[in-house]
Amino acid sequence: MTDDLFTAYRTFFGKGDALYRLFAPYRICPLGAHVDHQHGLVSGFAFDSGIDFLFSETENGKVEMASLTFEGLVTFNVQRPVEERQGNWGDYLRGAIWALQQDFRLEKGIKGIVKGSIPIGGLSSSAALLCGFVMAVDKVNHLGLSRQQIIDYASVAERRYIDLNNGILDQACVVLCEADKLLYLDTATGEHRLVPFGGENPKPLPFKLGIFFSGVTRRLTGTDYNLRVSECKTAAWIIQAYEGKHLKELGDTRLRDVSEEELERCSDRMPDRFARRARHFFTECDRVTEGIKAWEDGDIERFGQYVFDSCESSMNNYECGSPELIALYHIMRRTPGIYGGRFSGAGFKGACIALVDPSRQEEIRTFVTNEYLREYPQYRDSFEIFFCNPANGVDFL
Ligand code: GLA
Repeated sequence: MTDDLFTAYRTFFGKGDALYRLFAPYRICPLGAHVDHQHGLVSGFAFDSGIDFLFSETENGKVEMASLTFEGLVTFNVQRPVEERQGNWGDYLRGAIWALQQDFRLEKGIKGIVKGSIPIGGLSSSAALLCGFVMAVDKVNHLGLSRQQIIDYASVAERRYIDLNNGILDQACVVLCEADKLLYLDTATGEHRLVPFGGENPKPLPFKLGIFFSGVTRRLTGTDYNLRVSECKTAAWIIQAYEGKHLKELGDTRLRDVSEEELERCSDRMPDRFARRARHFFTECDRVTEGIKAWEDGDIERFGQYVFDSCESSMNNYECGSPELIALYHIMRRTPGIYGGRFSGAGFKGACIALVDPSRQEEIRTFVTNEYLREYPQYRDSFEIFFCNPANGVDFL
């Protein structure tokens, strides 16, 4: 752990406070992309990079948070109604308080420092920040939140305060994951399992996680993320209407409410973009189910193949991916030693992720860097590669 957090804390706030420290990991989702908002099946890892928090409580409700990663000091008071979004990282802190205020009267605030360990983009730094901050506020106010409640409040903050119509994937990975296991989650019911590699005969993990930063960063609220969510809901609505089923309001409709057979019966009559969004949903949920079997069989090559297939469907059916991410994906496919890889997160910015053979790490670094920078020399200073390991969910240190 870095000492610069302590130094920064002392510079901002002086000495003498009782300090708490927690670490909220980033996440990757190898299989189960873009289906959580439609109540589909997902999988995920938390990994050993993320956001470090060092903080203490304040008696008067004041929040004062500084960051070594994001710009600007964030100040407000948890005892007062939360102000509107301001378009900076403080919105996530305000959002967390807004969500908690729906159920609790908060007394104590937080002052502290946060620091992200690798560049931001596609690895769910927002969920790490939200879940970590909810846990910090829980600690100083003795709210006694369960792990599930941390997920729920962080999720309410992102959907209702930040206005991103996302699902529960990110928060669930940040909170529930365990090192060496793959999280399997049914986002319709919340049912989940932490699956050992090799199933009943667990084996050590034969891979590392490769994170390939394209050099492009952008916020999800400025992308087509919410548009895709609406397209999925509309696809479900159209299918239900053709099938003569009872319709709910569009906002309450999900692709999980219809079946693949129903889609195929009417896909010819649907505008193509809606049929493709629905096709992504069904094939991706199947890939999660099949991928979990490969994982339990201890077959990393088969698992990796599903991850590549998942990215194909993200490009062709879900239609996401910036030109840079698409280029990286094609490079990864022809890189020896990469078992499988895809866009990370929503796939509109940030990074590609891959499962890589640890013995070929440096070869992979050289090959991907040379190939990518040949196509995109403008990212020479911002393109970066990291190799990480699956890790436990958010916790106090
Ligand atoms: C973002 C969202 C998640 C999920 C992924 C795509 O990370 O926050 O809820 O939809 O994209 O799988």
